[in-house]
Amino acid sequence: MILILYAHPYPQYSRACKALLDGALSLPEIEVRSLYDLYPDFDIDVKAEQAALAQADLIIWLHPLHWYSVPALLKHWFDVVLLRGWAYGENGTALQGKQCLWAAVTGGDEEAYSAEGLHQLPFTDFVAPVMQTARYCGMQWQEPFILHGSHQVTDQELQSRADALRTRLIQWTSGASHNKEAS
Ligand SMILES: Cc1cc2nc3c(=O)[nH]c(=O)nc-3n(C[C@H](O)[C@H](O)[C@H](O)COP(=O)(O)O)c2cc1C
Repeated sequence: MILILYAHPYPQYSRACKALLDGALSLPEIEVRSLYDLYPDFDIDVKAEQAALAQADLIIWLHPLHWYSVPALLKHWFDVVLLRGWAYGENGTALQGKQCLWAAVTGGDEEAYSAEGLHQLPFTDFVAPVMQTARYCGMQWQEPFILHGSHQVTDQELQSRADALRTRLIQWTSGASHNKEAS
């Protein structure tokens, strides 16, 4: 089962994230939890989030990049859902072995994430905190899916990136069911 934790503060105004999400929606065995719709007051139902995570084989964090990181509600979600004794530490094995995919959309284009560009650093410099959050909880980190230049990308390019994510998830699903049959 694939669980998408969708963290867009204004889902109704999203173009890029929405395209990626729409591409994945029609896949079977997928659950989407739109965190800002569920918890506009940031009052996260920890038990419900943990129950959804427990059922998932692939966990996707999908969001626009905000200040080189995850939007505030997803950071809060990390703080209150990924608890010691559940996600890490003694007996904290709930997420062990699950796959984690970071799907982020950035306003900056690829050139902006370079020494000469607006953001001065390569995008890979911003991956570590999210990656290590997943790894600290025993999850298997997948190659991130990053869409750069979200404001400039044409409708056609956006559709092609959405198709690429969808294809990747289909391939993941068929690989996962193959592994289940083999075991
Ligand atoms: C508060 C805020 C912070 C942002 N920080 C970044 C950033 O650090 N790097 C970046 O490339 N884009 C940044 N952006 C641009 C967003 O990533 C961009 O608006 C988003 O990718 C658009 O996607 P959407 O069409 O799904 O809304 C920021 C936008 C906002 C509103």
